[in-house]
Formats: sequence, C-alpha cells, structure tokens
Amino acid sequence: MTATIEQTGPATSVGEVPTFEVTLRVRRFLPEGPRGDESYWDDHVLTMHGTDRVLDALHKIKWEQDGSLTFRRSCAHGICGSDAMRINGRNRLACKTLLKDLDIRKPITVEPIKGLPVIKDLVVDMEPFFASYREIMPFLVTSGNQPSAERIQSPEQRAVYDDTTKCILCAACTSSCPVFWTDGQYFGPAAIVNAHRFIFDSRDEAATQRLEILNDKEGVWRCRTTFNCTEACPRGIEITKAIAEVKRAMITRAF
Ligand code: SF4
Ligand code: FES
Repeated sequence: MTATIEQTGPATSVGEVPTFEVTLRVRRFLPEGPRGDESYWDDHVLTMHGTDRVLDALHKIKWEQDGSLTFRRSCAHGICGSDAMRINGRNRLACKTLLKDLDIRKPITVEPIKGLPVIKDLVVDMEPFFASYREIMPFLVTSGNQPSAERIQSPEQRAVYDDTTKCILCAACTSSCPVFWTDGQYFGPAAIVNAHRFIFDSRDEAATQRLEILNDKEGVWRCRTTFNCTEACPRGIEITKAIAEVKRAMITRAF
C-alpha cells in the first residue's frame, strides 16, 4: 500500500527533503545470543527522509542503535541481488524499496526470505539456491575449436532470450514460490530463468541436456503457475512466461 508522507511524529525538514518517523519491525534470529534458537521481532523507531529506502533504515539501526543487526547488501543500487528480504510480507530488494512507498503509519516488517535456512537475522543460507543454479549449466556450451572470430547472432535471435538475461540471482522469485517452500527440492524459478537464457541462445549447443535436467520430478512440471515469482522479481522479468516457454520446448523440442 502506498501512503503519502503524513507526519506521524514531530517533523522537521532538511533542505527540501521532509523527514518523518517510522517504525521498522525486524525479525531477529541470533542463535548465539541469550534467546538461542528463538526468533523474535525487534522494533526500532527511526527518523528518516523522504528519499530513504528500507536499506537506509537498516543501516541507521546498525550504525546508530544496534550493531548486532545482520543483513547482506553490497551495491545498494539494485544490481548485485544480495539484499532480497520480505518487506511487509512481500519479497523485495531493500535497496530499491522507498519507505515513502510503504504505509509508514504502521510498523514496516522486515524478515528473511522464506524457504532457505536462516543463518542470522536477515541472512539466509543461499547454497541450496545456487546448487540448483549450477545444475542447469549456466554457461555457454559449444563444440569444436575455438572460433577465430566472434559468434554471430542476429538482433532477432538475441531478442528471444533478452528478458532472462536480466536476472541478478537475488532469489526473490524462488523464495516466494509455495512449491519451493513445501520441500525446497524444486529447482525453483530462478534456475529455470537461467536455463531459459541458454536454451534459447542460438549459439548454445546444450539445450537438450538442460531440458533433460529440468524434466526431472523436481523440475519445471512442479510449477503451478501461481505468478508469485513474476510479482516478486525486482528486474521485472516475465518469469512465468519463461517457465511456460521452457515447458513448451520440452514437448515440441523447438528452441
Ligand atoms: S528472476 Fe528476478 S527474482 Fe528471480 S533471481 Fe532473477 S532477478 Fe531475482
Ligand atoms: S544491495 Fe545490491 S541489489 Fe540491493
């Protein structure tokens, strides 16, 4: 829900940028702390600016209130994919989510993404996610000798898989998928997106192999087309469409 910035407490302004008070409700899990394996919510009241993102609020907590708060981030600009988290119950990148676009009249909840083991606070173990990614062979496969010139591809051939080249491996899609939540064995949308990127690349020669890998009982056929993945993707990739194209290629062998 989007809210205009209504002052919830004493407000000031810095230059042209208004400030407001917001409560960040963060899910904490500190296995080595006094509460052991019990996770709990921690509220932080913060004064933030209209241009701040959820990532800025997390930084403010860590740098000014509680240095033990743990989360991943690197680029802070929607490129590295390291700060996917559940914000108000929806998977998003903290660095791309403006506080003013959320309902700041209520506490904003921040939790780790679902379906992957939580290591500490907002940090999850990404290894199961990357294991599926590695399985689909996310690299160009060709036979023969090294070419003496670049491998030519027409703009039309490139356009076929353009959308799936945009993936930043943030796991927002896979960790929003109910099928993945049930047992974590399903390859998940991100692996299929990255398989699509090579299956439909006219220069690649391992499409059949990748389709066989995804024809597994934990492969594409487990997708129930709930569209959670497409809604969660911060890159706007049409994931459900890509999965449907992979399913079709599996049946028709046209790629
Ligand atoms: S497809 Fe989108 S949501 Fe999924 S890992 Fe790639 S960028 Fe993230
Ligand atoms: S910190 Fe890199 S995508 Fe958000």
